[in-house]
Amino acid sequence: MVRPRAGIEGTLSFGPERPEDIPAIAALHQAAFGDTYEAAVVDGLRAGGWSFASLVARLGDEVVGHVMFSALSVTVDGQTVPSAALAPLSVAEGYRGVGIGTRLVQMGLEAARAHGSYAVLVQGDPAYYRPFGFDAAVIAHLRAPYDPGKLMALELVTGALAGRGGEVRYPPPFTRAQR
Ligand SMILES: CC(C)(COP(=O)(O)OP(=O)(O)OC[C@H]1O[C@@H](n2cnc3c(N)ncnc32)[C@H](O)[C@@H]1OP(=O)(O)O)[C@@H](O)C(=O)NCCC(=O)NCCS
Repeated sequence: MVRPRAGIEGTLSFGPERPEDIPAIAALHQAAFGDTYEAAVVDGLRAGGWSFASLVARLGDEVVGHVMFSALSVTVDGQTVPSAALAPLSVAEGYRGVGIGTRLVQMGLEAARAHGSYAVLVQGDPAYYRPFGFDAAVIAHLRAPYDPGKLMALELVTGALAGRGGEVRYPPPFTRAQR
């Protein structure tokens, strides 16, 4: 639940990005992360057709939050597991701590379910993502390009990632974008 704060209640709305939001989404990630990597990843995932949910939080006409969910290649014991990456997620400074990030993640997880994803992967702060059910242990047996301690997964289909071994491969925008 979004916890309203004086001045913003009633005016927050959530929904898919619109073409006119694109520059604001890039600026939001650039400000939140302090470099252009995440904005370049978003542009690449959108342009290459990997993104299936690009969701914004709006305060009036201003974009104050954004999350992207995109198709991700995961194989376990030689079988493809339809999966999604949650990345990136940003909420504008000044609007944090009122539940906007939570609402965006929840909407994205619903979109991933509707899209047919069996699992969602995220790289980030375990303290933030654990309450949604993300867990590093469920993908500890898979080869992945990121620090295994920081990569977490949420199975939308129970047992989807279970197996002896496998691999997570991120699409090119994640590796092509430069920090
Ligand atoms: C991380 C971020 C997206 C959180 O957005 P938000 O709208 O402030 O998050 P919420 O209000 O939904 O917070 C949900 C819970 O997580 C906690 N939380 C917020 N930021 C956190 C963080 N960085 N680490 C751990 N917990 C965090 C909140 O206190 C809240 O806990 P509560 O429900 O017990 O009160 C936002 O702080 C941000 O944009 N940070 C910079 C970019 C970034 O790091 N993004 C990637 C996240 S790994």
